[in-house]
This record gives sequence, C-alpha cells and structure tokens, in this order.
Amino acid sequence: MYLGLDLGTSALKALLSDDKGNIIKGTSASYDVKYVENNGTQQDPKTWLEALDKVLLDLKEYLKEVRALAISGQMHGLVILDEKDQVIRPCILWNDGRTTLENEELNQNKEFIYEHTANISYGGFTLPKFKWLAKNEPTNFSKIKKIMLPKDYLIYYLTNIFASDYTDMAGTLLLDVRKRTYSKEMLELVNIKVEQLPKLYESYEVIGLVKEELQLKYGFAKTKVVAGGADNALAAIGTNTLLEGTCNISLGTSGTILMPVKEVPILNSYGVHIFSHIKGSYIMGCILSAANCRKWWLEDILKTDDYALDEEEMKKVLTKDLYFLPYLQGERSPHNDTLAKGAFIGLTTTTTKASMSKAILEGVGFAIRDSLEIVKQSGINITSASLCGGGSRSKLWGQILANILGIEVKTLKNEQGPSFGAIILAMIGDGRLTFDQIDKLVNYDIVYEPKDIEEYNLKYHYYKKLYPALKKVFTEN
Ligand code: XUL
Repeated sequence: MYLGLDLGTSALKALLSDDKGNIIKGTSASYDVKYVENNGTQQDPKTWLEALDKVLLDLKEYLKEVRALAISGQMHGLVILDEKDQVIRPCILWNDGRTTLENEELNQNKEFIYEHTANISYGGFTLPKFKWLAKNEPTNFSKIKKIMLPKDYLIYYLTNIFASDYTDMAGTLLLDVRKRTYSKEMLELVNIKVEQLPKLYESYEVIGLVKEELQLKYGFAKTKVVAGGADNALAAIGTNTLLEGTCNISLGTSGTILMPVKEVPILNSYGVHIFSHIKGSYIMGCILSAANCRKWWLEDILKTDDYALDEEEMKKVLTKDLYFLPYLQGERSPHNDTLAKGAFIGLTTTTTKASMSKAILEGVGFAIRDSLEIVKQSGINITSASLCGGGSRSKLWGQILANILGIEVKTLKNEQGPSFGAIILAMIGDGRLTFDQIDKLVNYDIVYEPKDIEEYNLKYHYYKKLYPALKKVFTEN
C-alpha cells in the first residue's frame, strides 16, 4: 500500500492506495487560517501535527502495510525552528499580504532576482518574509536555526531528517530554478546561511524511514518517506501533466494554471512564476482566491452551503455586463499587488443573486486566462487542460472555464488532487511505478468543449480594463 498526504491550507488530506495505485480509503482533518493585522495569514504548525495524528489514527489498521508515503504541501509558508528545534513563531502562509513594502523593495532590483531565480518577488513568496521578520521581529529572526516549508516540517517530524525538494523550494526565491541549486546571491540578500536550509532531494527520492517512535505509535512497518513536493506540482503529476503543451488547472483556495516547459523560457511578462517541476520546469499563474471566492460568497455572505441549488440557479441566468474581480486576498498573477481588492462591477436593479454567483465563476476564469495569455504570447501552444481541486466538482464552472480559455477542459474520474500525486511519487520512490506508466493511473471523465468563444473574448477584453482602472482606488483606500 501507499500513502499520500496533502498539507493544504484548510485541511490535511490523506489517501491510501493498494500496490497498483487503486484508492482504498481517504480521510482528512481540517484547521483554520488565522487572519492577522496587515493582511497577514498564518497557521501554527502544531495544528498540522494534530491533524496528522488524527488522519494516521483513522488509517491505523492499514499502516503496517504501507510501503512508502509522500507529502504534498501548500507552498511558500515560512516555518522557523530555534536551536532546540522549537517552532519560533506561527508559519506565515502563501497568501499572506503583510510584505508589501519588502516586496516592492526587492523588486526595485527585479532583474537581479530574475537572473538568480527565474522569478521576481511576490508578496506571498518566502524571501520577502525574511526581510519582514528581520525588520519587525528581529529577535525571532536571530533565533533561526532551521528554515522549512510546511510539508518539510511534517517530514522532519516523521523522520528527524531535515529535507526538502526542488518543487517546493522553487517557491522560496532561495533556489536558482535554472541550476536546481540554492542561490548564494539570494541567500546573501537576506542573510541566510545554507546550513539553515534543508538538504534538497528530487521529489521521487527516498529520504529515509518513519522514525521508530512513530512506527510504534501508528503501527507503521519500515515505511519509506519519499520527498514529495509542492501541491501544484503534485496535482500536476496526479493528472499526468508533465510535458510541454499540456496544462493543469487547480481550483482550490487558490487557483493555478500550470504549464510544463522543456526549457526555462524568456517571457515578455513577469506576471507568472517559473518553478521546478518533478522533472524540468513549469510556468504557473497563481490567483490567490479561486474556489475561495465562491465559498466566501455562499457561506460567509449568503450564509448557505447549498452549492447544488446555487449551481441550478446560475444555469438560468446571464451575466451580461456584470463582472467580478476575484482579488479578495490581493493578487499574484499577473498583477503582483497585495493591495488589490475584490469587486462586483456593473450592478443594476436587474442583477440577481444567481447572476452575481455566476459572475464570480467567470471572474475567476478571466483571472486564470490572464496567465494563459502571457504563455501563449511566448509561443507555447496549449490546447487542452485537466481540471482538479474542489471547484472542479462544478460542471458549470468547468464549461465556463473552457469557454473563457477557448480550450478543451477535462476532469478526472476520482479526482483526488495533490494527495494522489503524492501516492504516485511514493510508488515511484519505492520502485513500483515508472514515469511513463503514470498515464495508466489517470482516467479522464467529463470533457468540456469551448462554446460561445467570441462572446467570452469580448467579455475578457472588457475585464482586462477593470484592474488598471481601479488600481489607484485599491491603493489609496
Ligand atoms: C502557489 C501557491 C498556492 C499554494 C496553495 O504559488 O501559492 O497555490 O501552494 O496551497
């Protein structure tokens, strides 16, 4: 058996498969994001350990048969440990917006950062967090002995081995994505020593075994721990998105469009990220609020969790000139603006709840198209996308995405997101599977063909004008 864990933003998901990759059981444990001043988001790593304990106890009867496990994790989070291996402060998350100033400072020299990382700085990335910490919490900064990403903290807990992988480290701006090695120049920029950083592994490499104490506690035999990686890279391997021309869209808390490339390309915009893939690299556009916009609208504002009714009502309405900007937590791709805000534009007395719901689905689609446009302009041809994440359960959203992007969008049977990618890596690490056999494990389900393309092209044309028109309003308020 194999175990895939996905340390997400709202829950830790665990998925168990047999030796052929067939899913046997899944379970999860949820936790909250703490929203703090200055648009900050954080989580106490202790809550991840509590969630891990819960899912491992749920699966205990199977664990003795688990040959290998791998972990997928939310990216960019900063976990810091002192010399006694104690967590110094809560983890600052990927969608944290407190580093506006530090980010701007760093990007004054964006060519330098780009040269050494293949990226520029973004508010949620890890590097600006060091600058923020050094300025705002100097005592905490001075105590740092070990620096980890969220999933590395679980690996350290499970194995006592201080390790990370290239896909996750690419999101820190400490890794030179072109050379697949830590960048001396970037470390110097924020006064970090390489000894404070984990040893890097390929995502499919075995790091070690579950430590003895936890073997006894949870009933593991000599279970191998495989490096695993960033949630987006693992979602992509779970949909077999490894080759140039393919693409994977994930509609989770964040929304991402991930496009593997043969070589690190030269793009005409810094609006998307270039990160390390399981092999090679990928371009990714990341919007900070995707399915989260729908959740906010339904659960927080309308106080309902009846997604099915919302879906039915939306089918009957048109959105005409109604637009939604999904920047509820600021925005990454392509605007790199921690101060951007969400907005409905075009409200009239005929606007209904259902048309506002539908405008949200469209707004997320348009925001994702912004990244696809950048990649298309560099000559990379993407003709179809696989779709995963919680938002992929909405058939209407799948169709709207196909219409807006003008490409075929396919969902998967038994879509399981990054935890299935983690199972695949555990199987590869254990020698059970090879990369060219992954496609046998991936079965497509619904295929949405694009429709009403001209209508959506026109709507996108107007959507694109909204952020530049509103930017000043967002900044000044
Ligand atoms: C990607 C990103 C998000 C998180 C969410 O750059 O920040 O997709 O990984 O878990």
